[in-house]
Amino acid sequence: MHILIFGASGYVGTGLAQHLSADHRITGIVRAQPADDTAYEPVLAPDWVDRPQSVIDELRRVDAPPVDAVIAAVGGWYVDMSMIDRGIDSFDEDYSSYLRGHFGACAVSEALAEEGGRAPVRHLALNGVASVEACVGSGAISVFGAAQEMLIRVAAAETEAVHYRELKVMAPIGGDDRNDLRGGVETIGLPAVADAVSALLSRPDEYEISTALNV
Ligand SMILES: NC(=O)c1ccc[n+]([C@@H]2O[C@H](COP(=O)([O-])OP(=O)(O)OC[C@H]3O[C@@H](n4cnc5c(N)ncnc54)[C@H](OP(=O)(O)O)[C@@H]3O)[C@@H](O)[C@H]2O)c1
Repeated sequence: MHILIFGASGYVGTGLAQHLSADHRITGIVRAQPADDTAYEPVLAPDWVDRPQSVIDELRRVDAPPVDAVIAAVGGWYVDMSMIDRGIDSFDEDYSSYLRGHFGACAVSEALAEEGGRAPVRHLALNGVASVEACVGSGAISVFGAAQEMLIRVAAAETEAVHYRELKVMAPIGGDDRNDLRGGVETIGLPAVADAVSALLSRPDEYEISTALNV
């Protein structure tokens, strides 16, 4: 498959590109050119969230093959003070990097489906345990993560041209040192996440819209 990754420069996006590139062609849509070599082919589209068509235009310009699947690994992660104490500006910023980015990625998938006119595009949005548990210190991520599931459900209900799926990774991903692992919190390794992503993208019909990956 030719897979586009949004959030390719992030922890999950980079790790998924490394694991999936052995079997698939991976293009990373990036807002800034990476400084080092990457496991994905970077395609620069600085304002892809606001202009989904810029992704289609750039892919055409570099003569990329048709896209089969899209992974949205946008968002971010932190543990900090309470959501209300962080203030409205921080809340707006988290909305921008999280829910707004996922909306943009859905818009790109639909534009790709319209452009390609072939088999439905497969779209997989990454989500986390914060979307189902009120995470103290990551409150806005809980709020926007919960909304993200409904974004994917509404998008799925409104089109047949894209197979929308969500993978909720129900524990911190191993190796991401932003996670607070005090008290013996278990993690899920990137290889397990990559296997789940691969299965969902290869056989979307076998999965519900939202799938949880547990420890
Ligand atoms: N890390 C974990 O332990 C963990 C656990 C469970 C689930 N997840 C899920 O995995 C996904 C990605 O997490 P991550 O840890 O990889 O995050 P990350 O390392 O912070 O990377 C997120 C990426 O999102 C993109 N991004 C951020 N703000 C943006 C904006 N305003 N507009 C467009 N793109 C923006 C950036 O990519 P570019 O700079 O390339 O544009 C960034 O590299 C999240 O949905 C999270 O729920 C992560």
